[in-house]
Amino acid sequence: MTKIGIVTGAAGGIGKAYVRRMMQEDLDEIWCMDRTLDLLKGFKEEFGEKAVTIGADLSSYEDLTGLKSMIEEKKPEILYLVNCAGTVQFQSTEDACFDELHRTMMVNCEASVLLTAICIPFMPEGSHILNMSSIGAFTPLPYINLYCAAKAFLRYYSRALNAELQERGIVVTAVCPGWVNTDMLPHTINGHEMKYEGMSNPDDVVAQAMKDAKAGRDMSVHTWLVKTRHVICKIIPQKWAIKAWRKKIRRYF
Ligand SMILES: NC(=O)c1ccc[n+]([C@@H]2O[C@H](COP(=O)([O-])OP(=O)(O)OC[C@H]3O[C@@H](n4cnc5c(N)ncnc54)[C@H](OP(=O)(O)O)[C@@H]3O)[C@@H](O)[C@H]2O)c1
Repeated sequence: MTKIGIVTGAAGGIGKAYVRRMMQEDLDEIWCMDRTLDLLKGFKEEFGEKAVTIGADLSSYEDLTGLKSMIEEKKPEILYLVNCAGTVQFQSTEDACFDELHRTMMVNCEASVLLTAICIPFMPEGSHILNMSSIGAFTPLPYINLYCAAKAFLRYYSRALNAELQERGIVVTAVCPGWVNTDMLPHTINGHEMKYEGMSNPDDVVAQAMKDAKAGRDMSVHTWLVKTRHVICKIIPQKWAIKAWRKKIRRYF
C-alpha cells in the first residue's frame, strides 16, 4: 500500500514548510494540495517525484467530493493529514461580502472536518492529523472575529477528536502559533503599516508542531511569548483582551 502524507495549503508559507519537513518522513508520496494546480508549479522540480500535486478548491463542495472519490479509489495508507489551508480578513464585518464569509467558513472549518472524515478510514495506528489553529483561538478578537472563531472551532474539534481516536492510535494536534512570516499577513491595512509582534518563521512552527504531534500532544504552541499569552488568556476575563485588541486595531479602520 502506498504510504502518503497530505498537506493542504501547500503552495506557500506554513504549508510548504510542512511539505519540506514531510520529505524527511518514511513516505512514498506527499500529496500537496492547493486551490489550483498552477500554484504548485515547480513542486516536482523542487521536491522530486514524491511530491504529487493536486488542485482542489476547498471552498467547493464538488472539489471536496472529488477528493473523497480519489482517496476511496486509490486507498492509500495515510500517515499524515495536515489541514493547513486557511484565509484571514482583517476587516469590519460590515465590509465583508457574502461570498467571502462563505469561503472563509468553508476553508477554515468545514473543509478540515470533511477531509478528516474522508481520511480517517485510511489512517493506521501511529498516524497523525495536524490542524492549523492559531493564537487567535485563545480569545475572540474584533475585526478578525470570524478567523478567531474558526480557529477556536478547529482547536476544540481537534482536542476532542484526539480523545475519540485514542483507541485507534491516531494523534490529532491543534497547532496554535502566533504571527508567522507568510504572505497571509497584510503589510498594510487601509494604508496603515501593520506591525506583528514576535513574528516566527514557518519552518520553526512546523518543527515544533511535528515534535509535539510525535509526542502525542493534542496542542502545539510555538514560542514562549505565545505560551505566555495562552496562560494569560486563561486567567483574565475575555472582555479585557477584547478591549485591549480593539484599542490597538481600531485605528486601522
Ligand atoms: N501566518 C500567520 O501568522 C498564521 C498564524 C497562525 C495560524 N496560521 C494558519 O496557518 C495556515 C497557513 O497559513 P500561512 O500563513 O502559511 O498562509 P498562506 O501562505 O496564505 O497559506 C494558506 C494557503 O491556503 C490556501 N488556500 C486558501 N484558500 C483556499 C481554497 N479555497 N482552497 C484551497 N486552498 C486554499 C492558500 O492558497 P491561495 O494563496 O491561492 O489563496 C495558501 O496556499 C492557515 O490556516 C492560517 O490560518 C497562520
